[in-house]
Amino acid sequence: MKRTILITGGAGFIGSHVIRRFVKKYSDYTIVNADNLTYAGNLGNLTDIDREPNYKFRKVDIVDKKAVSALFDEFRFDGVIHLAAESHVDRSITSPDEFILTNILGTVNLLAAFRDVKPESDAARLFYHISTDEVYGSLEHGGFFTEQTPYDPRSPYSASKASSDHMVRAFGNTYKLPFVISNCSNNYGPNQFPEKLIPLTINNIKSKRQIPVYGKGENIRDWLYVEDHAAAIDVIFHKGNPGETYNVGGDNEWKNIDLVRLMCSIMDRKLGRNAGSSENLITFVTDRAGHDLRYAIDSSKLQKELGWKPSVTFEQGMEMTVDWYLANEKWLATIISGDYSKYYEEMYGNR
Ligand code: NAD
Ligand code: TYD
Repeated sequence: MKRTILITGGAGFIGSHVIRRFVKKYSDYTIVNADNLTYAGNLGNLTDIDREPNYKFRKVDIVDKKAVSALFDEFRFDGVIHLAAESHVDRSITSPDEFILTNILGTVNLLAAFRDVKPESDAARLFYHISTDEVYGSLEHGGFFTEQTPYDPRSPYSASKASSDHMVRAFGNTYKLPFVISNCSNNYGPNQFPEKLIPLTINNIKSKRQIPVYGKGENIRDWLYVEDHAAAIDVIFHKGNPGETYNVGGDNEWKNIDLVRLMCSIMDRKLGRNAGSSENLITFVTDRAGHDLRYAIDSSKLQKELGWKPSVTFEQGMEMTVDWYLANEKWLATIISGDYSKYYEEMYGNR
């Protein structure tokens, strides 16, 4: 079936994997990637597919209402998969404003434009909003987030994502806009910007820099391989019930310090260093303000209703991720030049 769909934030980490999957799998779709190319957006993530006839890129700031409206005039989308966001908790603590603008106002601009467009195709319309498990708050050492867990966001990032989820549901209720939302746990894999824990640790071990572990490293995250998230997005976009929310997770909880130690041992082996040598780089630094203790997701609804499950074990995913970063030194070198050094210095320089 012919469709014209918008994927926002397609030059970022998760978005680039979603774009690649859709461009390769759905040759009848016109897939438009709208991205403002912030520090986290990199068209170099898409060089293998950017000449495909069913792919188009438009540089659009979703905060710019006129630009969003012009984009919808040009393409008359029947579907939107919305990933564009400011996504890093630490940056939201030092400068929340961008999070309010992009994550809340940007989402509202897209919702309003989608509400007002008359689509070109007859496909059922859908606005699919990609969100995070962080909207549910923080768990102690027991229980899981379900789709019924009340929202309790605790960082400027998670509060801005929670607001955007609420706006999506409000547009669904008020204007009868068909929508779905998914809330996913922490992703890892190729192309993740090295401000996040896993790629930052890989990069620091490689260059023998200290590995900053916040607090005592006791915080727990559930990790999902990014291509399994892209597969979940595919199935939810095509088979999800409008108005529903789906939790996505890896059923794969790790205490940060255990994860960092695991990465040290993988990297020692891959780099031919003495076993245990990278662990000497571990440095406990001042804790993140308001640091959520634990995230853990119950994804049984998605598994039972839509038949999705993670396909990659954590061991396989970590091997693939480390191999990718070691094989893509140029990608990493480009990313960590310029602004990244300034960010790193401000973030970790005086800890
Ligand atoms: P990312 O930071 O790697 O990429 C975000 C992309 O959005 C970048 O390409 C950036 O250029 C673009 N963007 C930012 N502001 C924009 C604007 N004003 N206009 C247009 N484009 C803009 O993020 P990610 O990790 O790929 O996350 C993608 C989505 O998934 C986000 O909505 C995030 O909240 C959600 N999410 C992420 C995770 C995770 O672990 N990374 C987990 C669950 C949900
Ligand atoms: P991060 O990758 O920033 O994801 P999120 O905050 O969205 O979960 O961080 C994952 C965990 O690792 C989180 O508990 C914070 C911690 N962390 C560190 O200990 N050191 C670091 O340098 C970073 C970036 C994160």
